[in-house]
Amino acid sequence: MQKFVIQGGRRLEGDIAVQGAKNSALPILAAALLCEGESILENCPKLSDVYAACRILGSVGCRCKMEGHTVVIGGCPVYPQIPETLMQEMRSSIIFLGAMLGRLGSCTLGFPGGCELGPRPIDLHLSALRRMGVRIREENGILFCDTPHGLHGARIHLQFPSVGATENILLAAVLAKGETILTNAAREPEILDLAGYLLKCGANIEGAGSSTIRVQGVKQLDGCTYRIMPDRIVTATWLAAAAITGGELRLLQTDAASLVGILDVLEEMNGKCSHTPDSICFSAVRPLRAVRYLKTMPYPGFPTDAQAIVMAVLCQASGTSVIEETIFENRFRHVDALCRMGADIQVAGRVAVVHGVRRLQGAQVSATDLRGGAALLVAGLGAEGETAITEISHIDRGYDSPEQVLRSVGAAIERI
Ligand code: UD1
Repeated sequence: MQKFVIQGGRRLEGDIAVQGAKNSALPILAAALLCEGESILENCPKLSDVYAACRILGSVGCRCKMEGHTVVIGGCPVYPQIPETLMQEMRSSIIFLGAMLGRLGSCTLGFPGGCELGPRPIDLHLSALRRMGVRIREENGILFCDTPHGLHGARIHLQFPSVGATENILLAAVLAKGETILTNAAREPEILDLAGYLLKCGANIEGAGSSTIRVQGVKQLDGCTYRIMPDRIVTATWLAAAAITGGELRLLQTDAASLVGILDVLEEMNGKCSHTPDSICFSAVRPLRAVRYLKTMPYPGFPTDAQAIVMAVLCQASGTSVIEETIFENRFRHVDALCRMGADIQVAGRVAVVHGVRRLQGAQVSATDLRGGAALLVAGLGAEGETAITEISHIDRGYDSPEQVLRSVGAAIERI
């Protein structure tokens, strides 16, 4: 079992080139199976979730090879089934459903079930796919999906702008017969990136990145070479690490526009930011200030994926911050570990009240989920003394060699 051991309190300084986005790479890997030709995806992060997506592609009969940060996908899916073990390995594997239906017209796969963040319902995905002509039968946690009369476009209104449902609908719609009009679609930058890839492959999509997306189904898609967008949550994590250590970082190969919401909060905390379209300079000015009220919201609101990470910094900010989590039911699991490190946090339902302390103290803690684990990394960098983080497989799902990145800017961190 691996762990990270951090000697806290080192000021971070230097340049970091930000990795590609996990949440964009995963749906684009699924999209690649819609294409007749080969796709070459550049800037793909080396992550356990990306490896799991490649295994899913292999299991349905596609070729998928990763060399460095480039993944080459080719071949046609032939097996309309995703093995249960692979479904369990990565919850977001449900994203393959829309693509499999688009290409093969049928798919059998395990129900994704709950996860660390609480229940992960897929009712919005399924009801949208039903409107597009998909017949779905559930038996003992297995979903049997087929399209007896073919897949067709439909008017779909999402009750909530779910990221995964928007992606699944896009993936199913690009090869479906006729027009799909999706309203109240998710507007996350990763949706725009997925649409960017599909457009380059020959899809007909308008409005991705806004709440109404129109798709005209086409007969076939070709592969293409595409560069995965930078990871905005990883960018936020390194900014948080600079903030908590009183440091100064320049983040390169990032996308400042996708960080709206996060940069505002860091400035409210007394951080100084300047940016070009693809770089962000950030320096922390002590003392850090509390943030009066922070509420997670669908994009362009403050992202739920950055909540734990920013909370770690607020633990050492002067004053009281109130954080409301509106997206997931169970997204304060990092709080216990932060409190072990000396944080003063009270949780009531979906609200956490953080009273800043002068300094966190190093401790033995365990990552409970991906972003909660990243929050412990940030807290450990700012704490006094040694922090050991176990269960770091959660962190490896989303961060490509984080210890190397952090060491390159002055952190004392080892993977043991
Ligand atoms: C994606 C991201 C995840 C991020 C989340 C919200 C990926 C691989 N993951 O997850 O990192 O935290 O967006 O920005 O891109 N819901 C339903 N029914 C559904 C679908 C969703 O009730 O059919 C609910 C969920 O339980 C949750 C909320 O909607 O409470 C948001 O979920 P969604 O936007 O779908 O998140 P994911 O796509 O799973």
